[in-house]
This record gives sequence, structure tokens and C-alpha cells, in this order.
Amino acid sequence: MELDWLCYISATLLGAYLFVFKCLRNVNGWYYHVKLGKKKHPLPPGDMGWPLVGNFFAFAKSFRSGDPDSFINKLVSRYGRTGIYKTHLFGNPSVIVCTPDMCRRVMTDEEHFRPGYPKSTVKLTGTSAGSASPAEHKRLRRLTTAPIMGHKALAVYTERIEDIVIDKLDEWASMKQPFELLKGLKEVTFRVIIHIFFGSHSQYSVVTKIGELFTETASALFSLPIDLPGFTFHKALKARKKLVGIIECILEERKMMMKTGDQREGKKDLVDVLLEVEDENGEKLEDKDIVDLLFQFQFAGHESTSLGYTIPKGWKVVNLIRAIHMDPQYYPNAQEFNPSRWDDYKVKTGSFLPFGIGCRLCPGSDLAKLEITIFLHYFLRNYKLERINEKCPITFLPMVKPTDDCLARVIKVP
Ligand code: HEM
Repeated sequence: MELDWLCYISATLLGAYLFVFKCLRNVNGWYYHVKLGKKKHPLPPGDMGWPLVGNFFAFAKSFRSGDPDSFINKLVSRYGRTGIYKTHLFGNPSVIVCTPDMCRRVMTDEEHFRPGYPKSTVKLTGTSAGSASPAEHKRLRRLTTAPIMGHKALAVYTERIEDIVIDKLDEWASMKQPFELLKGLKEVTFRVIIHIFFGSHSQYSVVTKIGELFTETASALFSLPIDLPGFTFHKALKARKKLVGIIECILEERKMMMKTGDQREGKKDLVDVLLEVEDENGEKLEDKDIVDLLFQFQFAGHESTSLGYTIPKGWKVVNLIRAIHMDPQYYPNAQEFNPSRWDDYKVKTGSFLPFGIGCRLCPGSDLAKLEITIFLHYFLRNYKLERINEKCPITFLPMVKPTDDCLARVIKVP
């Protein structure tokens, strides 16, 4: 009798195992294989993961652990160093590319590749981020990036950035309790962007509220886009809604001032320029576009010939630039902090892309480098850092950071 039960349980477990791992596990792969029908070239190697969620959980797990390269390394060990793999991420069938040539090709070939962000990112940052036509994108980009590109444009902000950095360093050094340095640094970059966008006229409490809401919205940029109570994405959508309300009020105020001729003193800030600008048909930008642009600036400030395989139309292509920057072929011991590695280093084309390439090249790169230089200048000369948890693990999703947000004390050196 007992033996019968044992056989019964074993058979059930074996059946369940076969169903889950040999049948259910492959449903996604079969579905896309059948859907795409006959192709001239095969799909890249890889696996499409579980039905509905694809490989999202494996991806998120590796990026939240201390070893974000494990996701791509597993693909390499299973399918070889093809540099291109099919997968299913963020609710989309996708292809990951991770060689300099292929990333460069994808980022510069406007005809075949349009920017496409995960659904969660598009919903949270606004539609103009990815869906503007190439011509519209060029026009908006020309308009919005002029104030932050090049040394001449940035010279106007240097003094203000210095003030913000010096103020913050002094504030941190006077704090008795340790604080999360990373959050503090985000506040610095956030204040710089707000200054460029709105000038120095916004109230401190409004700026602080906007900062909090941005942080809440950003927490779900790469989450599953599930809009149900309890999910991060749901909370982030609510934060975005409040944020849009606040920004729209500021825009209304500005429009009113323009109408009544109640101009403020000093240089126009970016919002004034955006509110005034008209296209060739006399059409002005809508408030919604200006809000989207602010989101883009805020979030963005915070990532060939050898394509033999088919990349089906509509699939997302994920440029895994991290995999190139971590590849020992280009950067031996990439994890090691070794500034001397750059001495006499000849960069292979496409193997160093921290700010992207092509028509989407980061317009904030000069500003970012200026902010980092000013911060390091004042910090290294006058302060030192005492971390509370030196061995704190690092998470890589949605952004790289120590899990304690670098809890630390900043101490003024006499
Ligand atoms: C160290 C800091 C930064 C890094 C590593 C960085 C990196 C990048 C990368 C890789 C892209 C290209 C994305 C793509 O190809 O789709 C990009 C785009 C962009 N970045 Fe940055 N960025 C930084 C700072 C900033 C700052 C401070 C700003 C704003 C003031 C900014 C604004 C933008 C915008 C608006 C885009 C979109 C450009 C377009 O689509 O035409 N970035 N950034």
C-alpha cells in the first residue's frame, strides 16, 4: 500500500517537472517560432523564457545581485560568443547585442532601428522620449540641448553649480548623523537641472517636492508595467501624475507672467525658451511635451555589418554596453579601480560608449563632466568620507548603487 503511494507521488512529481520544465518553459519559444514563420536567416541563439514574463526575473535577479554580468555570461556559456542573443524582457520579445560593432550599428542606423524603451520607461517618462519622428526628435534636440552643450553654454552655470556643491558639502559636514550620500548627490544634480530648466526662481519647498516625486517615479523605470495596487509601477504612476500637476502649475504661472508682461530679471531659462518657440506653422509646444522633456532630462542624467541573424520587425534590441565595458578583451580586470589604464590607451571604435553614439549621443555629457569635476575639486581638497558599511553589497537595477545608498559621514578636513 505504502509503495503504491510512493509510486503515485513520484509519478506526479515527475509529471509536474516534465510539464513545467519541458513544456511550459518552452511555450514562449514555440509561440514566436510559429508566429514568425519561415525566415531567410535564423533567429539569434538564446531563449525566450517563461510565458508572459519571459526572462525578466532572471535578468532582474542578476542585476539586483552583486553579479550583473551573470545574465549575459550564462548566455555566452550556453550559446557561445555570438555577441547577439534572443530573449524576452520587460514584456517584449527582444534581442541583446553586446559587441562594439553591433552596438554601434544599432545606435547609428536610424533607418532600421528606432529608439524603443521598456513599456514602464515610456509610461513614466512620457511618450516624446521614444516615439517622436526622427525629424521632430532632431528639432526638439536642437532646441533643448543648446543650453547645456559646449563649454561656452555651460560657463553660465559654473558659478551656480559651485554654489550648490559648496552649500551641500557644508550641510553634510555639519550633520551629526550619517546620511545617504548617494541621495545627497542626486539632490545636487537634480538642483542643477531644475536651475537650468526653471532658473533660481522656484520655491525651495516646491523643488524639494518635485525631487521626491521624481525619485519615486524613477524607482519603477525598469519594472514590470503592472498597474495594480501594491506594485512599484502603480505607485510610480501616481507619483508621475502628481508631478505633472505641479509642473503644469509652474507652466501656467510662467504663461501668465508672459501675457501680463511681468518678466523676471536676468537671462531666460529653458522653460521660457520652450514656451515661446514655434514651429514653421506657428504651432507652439504643448505643456505635455515640455513636461516629457523635463522627465527626459531628469532621468537621462541619471546608460553592422556582422548582423547575419534576423532581428524581427517590432522586436526590441537591447544594447548591453555594460557587457562591452566589462569584456576582458577590451578592458583587462575591468572591475579593478585603475585610472592608469587610460594612459596611452587606444580605444577600439565602439568599445567605449558611456555617453552613447550617433544621433542620440548624450547631450548632457559636458554638463555631467562639469558637475563631476566641480564636485571632486571641492570634495577632495576639503573633505573626507567615512562610510558606515564599507562592505555593503551593490545593486545594479535600476541604476548601479550600494544598497545602503552610501550611508556615510562627510568630515571637513581642517
Ligand atoms: C555621467 C552621466 C551621464 C551618462 C553616463 C549618460 C549617458 C547617456 C547615454 C548612454 C545616452 C544615450 C541613450 C540612447 O542611445 O538611447 C544618453 C542620452 C541622453 N542623455 Fe545622458 N548621460 C549622463 C548625464 C546626462 C545629463 C546630466 C543630462 C541632462 C542634463 C543628460 C541628458 C540626456 C538626454 C536628454 C538624452 C537623450 C538624447 C536623445 O535621445 O537625443 N544626460 N545619456
